[in-house]
Amino acid sequence: MRYNSIFDLKNKVAVVVGGAGLIGSEIVKGLSDFGAKVYIADIDKQAAGKIKTRGIKFIYLDIASEDSIYRALNAVCEEAKGIDILINCAYPRTDDWGLGLEKVTFDSWKENVNNHLGGYFICSKVAAELMKKKSGGVIINFASIYGVVAPDFSIYRGTKITMPAAYSAIKGGIINFTKYLATYYAKYNIRANVISPGGVFNRQDPLFVKRYADKTPLKRMAKPLDMVGAVIYLSSEAAAYITGQNLLVDGGWSVW
Ligand SMILES: NC(=O)c1ccc[n+]([C@@H]2O[C@H](COP(=O)([O-])OP(=O)(O)OC[C@H]3O[C@@H](n4cnc5c(N)ncnc54)[C@H](O)[C@@H]3O)[C@@H](O)[C@H]2O)c1
Repeated sequence: MRYNSIFDLKNKVAVVVGGAGLIGSEIVKGLSDFGAKVYIADIDKQAAGKIKTRGIKFIYLDIASEDSIYRALNAVCEEAKGIDILINCAYPRTDDWGLGLEKVTFDSWKENVNNHLGGYFICSKVAAELMKKKSGGVIINFASIYGVVAPDFSIYRGTKITMPAAYSAIKGGIINFTKYLATYYAKYNIRANVISPGGVFNRQDPLFVKRYADKTPLKRMAKPLDMVGAVIYLSSEAAAYITGQNLLVDGGWSVW
């Protein structure tokens, strides 16, 4: 065996839900570089169009619509003769996302939980059922450090940024739901894992960025590129015996 081929994704079909976003677009390019045939499944065709890597295809998928998810994933499966890798990294949120807890209405909470956690549920379920027909596959769901630890609100003080309450519930739910997927679908050779990023630098308020970096053992915020190695690893044969795990890519944020 040639060990340097264990990360090879040649002939694999990968669907990146939310692939037009900050993290998703980097993942799309990484998967493609490792040989996968990649589909961006997103509501934002324009943003997807800015990703210039050759061979990448776009399919419209609205994670808030069960019907849209069924149609998009089945269409990819039919065209590409199966789905091997599903990455869930869409980030749907309501217009009032970011309000302090006291101001969050129950309707807003429900909509965010439904669209985000619920959307990851439907995408995972539909993809897993399609993967069953092809003797296996890989599901990677994006959660967050805030699915594991509570926010330290002192780093947001004096800025317009905050961390919404629903995010903790959604991301904690995604982590545990993925463990469920791992044991439920193990007999079909479907592996399910989580990647939990730390805060990704995206030109936030410098005050916040400094406080965030100071609190992080590696002394910086994450870059979208930091997520690519984790995705390639978990998607590939290198992680053939890994399922149900939550890989924290957070510069050490969650260790203390
Ligand atoms: N950026 C961070 O600091 C950070 C930190 C931890 C975890 N995460 C997680 O990583 C994942 C990706 O985050 P990001 O920063 O790239 O977000 P982003 O907002 O940059 O991108 C999200 C993508 O999801 C798409 N999207 C939004 N609503 C959708 C819908 N209804 N249907 C389909 N697609 C939809 C958007 O068009 C966009 O392409 C999310 O799960 C997020 O919670 C992000």
